[in-house]
Amino acid sequence: MENFTYYNPVKIVFGKGTISQLGTLIPQGAKVMITYGGGSIKKNNVYDQVVTALKDYDLIEFGGIEPNPSYETCMEAVELCKKNNVDFLLAVGGGSVLDGTKFIAAASRFKGEDSWDILSKCAPVDDAIPLGAILTLPATGSEMNFFSVISKNATKEKLHFGCPSVYPLFSILDPATTYSLPQKYIRNGIVDIFVHVIEQYITYNVHAPLQERYAESILKTLIEISPKLLSNKIDYDTRANFMWCATMALNGLIGCGVPQDWSTHFIGHELTAFFGLDHGESLAVVLPGVWEHQLYNKTDKLSKYGQRIWGLSHSSPIETATIAIYETENFFRSLGMPTMLSEYNITEKDIEKVCERLKNRGSKFGEFGNIGSDQVREILLSRI
Ligand code: NZQ
Ligand code: ZN
Repeated sequence: MENFTYYNPVKIVFGKGTISQLGTLIPQGAKVMITYGGGSIKKNNVYDQVVTALKDYDLIEFGGIEPNPSYETCMEAVELCKKNNVDFLLAVGGGSVLDGTKFIAAASRFKGEDSWDILSKCAPVDDAIPLGAILTLPATGSEMNFFSVISKNATKEKLHFGCPSVYPLFSILDPATTYSLPQKYIRNGIVDIFVHVIEQYITYNVHAPLQERYAESILKTLIEISPKLLSNKIDYDTRANFMWCATMALNGLIGCGVPQDWSTHFIGHELTAFFGLDHGESLAVVLPGVWEHQLYNKTDKLSKYGQRIWGLSHSSPIETATIAIYETENFFRSLGMPTMLSEYNITEKDIEKVCERLKNRGSKFGEFGNIGSDQVREILLSRI
């Protein structure tokens, strides 16, 4: 097993009716800015619960944080924060609202000249406005990690940063807030969670069986609950398990002491930035391509995954690994998720834009750092 340091300070408040506890979680007397997205929280009663729970606080709000939150929108919120001396941010929504709020928290106290440097130059973030979150869409794990992914409309870039000062102080996870989710976002969430686990699991063996079993337990649970999640019958316990899978998949725990890949995510971010695919959609296209390309580097883990998750028992590891890839793509398709670029009308010419950018950046992805722009071209061409 590799060396690691594990630290996660986020307080999780999980369950029915927990939004009412907000007043015990946010410091008394704080000037609070509630941040949210396009308005789903106003239709499903979440906003009303928040405002009721915070009736004794001095509140302002900033709505309109879009899916794949933009730098441009977040900077408007930064202005509002500064003007109103906001000292606590409460993000209410999906991963985009949480990520946008983390960036707003950091940019509001950033001493440098250009806040985009936090994303493009990894400029250090020493300070941020304290924040809390109410999650309404299980997917990203943003509720219990310090990552944030922000897009710049002007240049069609999508970049991430991460630093301890943007860990949420707390995250409220009430599964009932997910009842209003359209199937599309549930499907996207299942794939996102699945791929978070995979990128910390399908690498190479470092003798870490506990981490493998953690990863497998999340994958198995997701596969088991997916039909129920996508059926028309809403069931609290299924939503609760969905939500907890999402949090556990990317709060750092399953990645302790093991190599990680993340190439599918980084390539996927480019597909979102250039062509507007939802985050989950981009992953379902890229993952089978990365695996086919890296089949010989990942044979052992893919074969183990095939046996333990899909119950495969073929004579050779390569054969098991190959069929495991096929089973995974089938699983995504069973959720109603497209897995080919052609389904989004993306062509060979379009792929060149992605490759050119990655070449200019000198990007190298994967657990071996062996996926550069030429390999990305091969991977994406195999998905047309
Ligand atoms: O904006 P509103 O009106 O709230 O509607 C949202 C949005 O349109 C809607 N929604 C959310 N909760 C709802 C709801 N609709 C009805 N009922 C509810 N309860 O869902 C739509 C999509 O929301 P979004 O927040 O964009 O989805 P998601 O949670 O999948 O977040 C995606 C973003 O997170 C980033 C992605 O790159 C993408 O930008 N990621 C963040 C990570 C992190 N911080 O660790 C890791 C991930 O790999 C990912 O990259
Ligand atoms: Zn993701």
